[in-house]
Amino acid sequence: MIQTISTTPYLDQKMGTAGIRKKVKTVMQPNYLENFVQSLFDSIGGVAGQTFVLGGDGRYYNDIALQKIIKMAAANGMKKLIIGQNGYLSTPASSCVLLKNHADGGLTLSASHNPGGVNGDFGIKYATSNGGQCSSSISEKIYSRTKEITSYQILDIEDIDLSYIGVQYLEDMEIEVIDPIKDYLEMMEGIFDFDAIRKLFKSGFSFVFDAMNAVTGPYGIKIFEEVLGAPEGSVHQAKPLPDFGGLHPDPNLVYAKHLVDLMYSDDAPDFAGANDGDGDRNMILGKKFFVSPSDSLAILTDNYHYIPAYKKGIAGVAKSAATSTAVERVAKNLKINYFEVPTGWKNFCNLMDSGRITFCGEESFGTSSSHIREKDGIWAILFWLNIIAKTGKSVEQITRDFWKKYGRTYYLRFDFDGIDTSVADQLMADLESKLPSFEGQTFDGYKVSRAHPFIYQDPVDGQTTKNGLLVYFEGGARICFRLSGTGTNGATLRVYIESYDPINFDKDSPQELEKLLGVAMILAEIEKRTGKNKPDLTT
Ligand code: G1P
Ligand code: ZN
Repeated sequence: MIQTISTTPYLDQKMGTAGIRKKVKTVMQPNYLENFVQSLFDSIGGVAGQTFVLGGDGRYYNDIALQKIIKMAAANGMKKLIIGQNGYLSTPASSCVLLKNHADGGLTLSASHNPGGVNGDFGIKYATSNGGQCSSSISEKIYSRTKEITSYQILDIEDIDLSYIGVQYLEDMEIEVIDPIKDYLEMMEGIFDFDAIRKLFKSGFSFVFDAMNAVTGPYGIKIFEEVLGAPEGSVHQAKPLPDFGGLHPDPNLVYAKHLVDLMYSDDAPDFAGANDGDGDRNMILGKKFFVSPSDSLAILTDNYHYIPAYKKGIAGVAKSAATSTAVERVAKNLKINYFEVPTGWKNFCNLMDSGRITFCGEESFGTSSSHIREKDGIWAILFWLNIIAKTGKSVEQITRDFWKKYGRTYYLRFDFDGIDTSVADQLMADLESKLPSFEGQTFDGYKVSRAHPFIYQDPVDGQTTKNGLLVYFEGGARICFRLSGTGTNGATLRVYIESYDPINFDKDSPQELEKLLGVAMILAEIEKRTGKNKPDLTT
């Protein structure tokens, strides 16, 4: 039944910050998915005898892609595929299952927080045996292979039924369909104080978890409602839908505005958390209060001792360069390792594998620890609930206590979307060449103390990566410029801005950062080059 199908290469199958992401319609072209999957298999020396984990966020086209991948895996001699029931596995659960089973690799079918549906995006994240997404050197190999592929192998058989938990065989390949939640839940029970959180809910603490019509709905119902006793109905938008019900499943102030509105109304519950399409991002809100993701990472790190799994101490913490410097102050105070890495979770993995760090996070609503090698949305929410249960304080109190101790970092990210790729590349190249000339100059009252590209050398594999341009100002303000690596629509220029205030915690972030945004627009000549006089999105 093994067929060898001739094919011709597509030249655009390059992975970005987190796997390959394309418009669904691009992926629906003949052999597009097959070419990528066979190239992946080929460039890692084949998959004969290997075990892979397979799942996804349930978005449009996943059902078709799953069947193709299963048939290709069997045709390529894979030994075993572990698949989430009905093809569901959140990104963190996939990493958890991969590590637990000592699998050789994992494929998560997701374009993360990008919209779904036939007009939306599709994606594949590829994890290696350490549970984290493959390094850039591996993705480069795969990309090279996609440009020369001439054939792929696939079984010519009926689709496989993925609705029953249990084992079946396809030729010589074992297919184990698993409960997508069980292993992940067990892992969470081993980290957090579930009894304390149960008591918190019993005491009447009100809570909403918004799954944005994506994969973590069933996880939320099981964990928060059934196991921890949050009232039925606490999980909102709980049914995973192929088009996420039209939502852009990215939990931030813009795309989860419905939740923000609820939390700023008089009926606001005590706590709200939301996850993105594949469950690796999180947003945290208290009553009329929003926690910036950069602050969230810093607060979790500062409160690590409330969590059973981390009580004995944490090795260190890392953040992406674009993330605010709030956590740096915590690391100094706790005297733990501290690293700044390029954007993208894969850059944290060597630090975790080598025991250098325990926690890590990004400004883009991602936080996690070394329990897996992905960011973890539900983990972050459980962490906050555990702190609340132990301290009896509200989200706002916990955050204000943190500011009192360390000062407040005002932080926002401004995105300029849909820029012509060549315009965006030129803007970055010219800005980079001008950076040295900014040093010592004052722009609208802000004096530049240093300006340079962010260059990271991984302490484990020695690889060097350049990612973003940094401008530091006297007094602690900072601007970071970089181009997105996950978009499917031209280029997105991201401008990350922060300022630091040790005393005054009640300023409005957009107002506080307005002048610095103006400075950023001047430094990078944004209006002149893109025609845009303001950002398209502020998060
Ligand atoms: C974005 C975020 C980055 C995150 C990635 C995957 O990448 O900025 O922090 O790791 O999505 O969720 P970007 O589009 O900026 O390359
Ligand atoms: Zn995601």
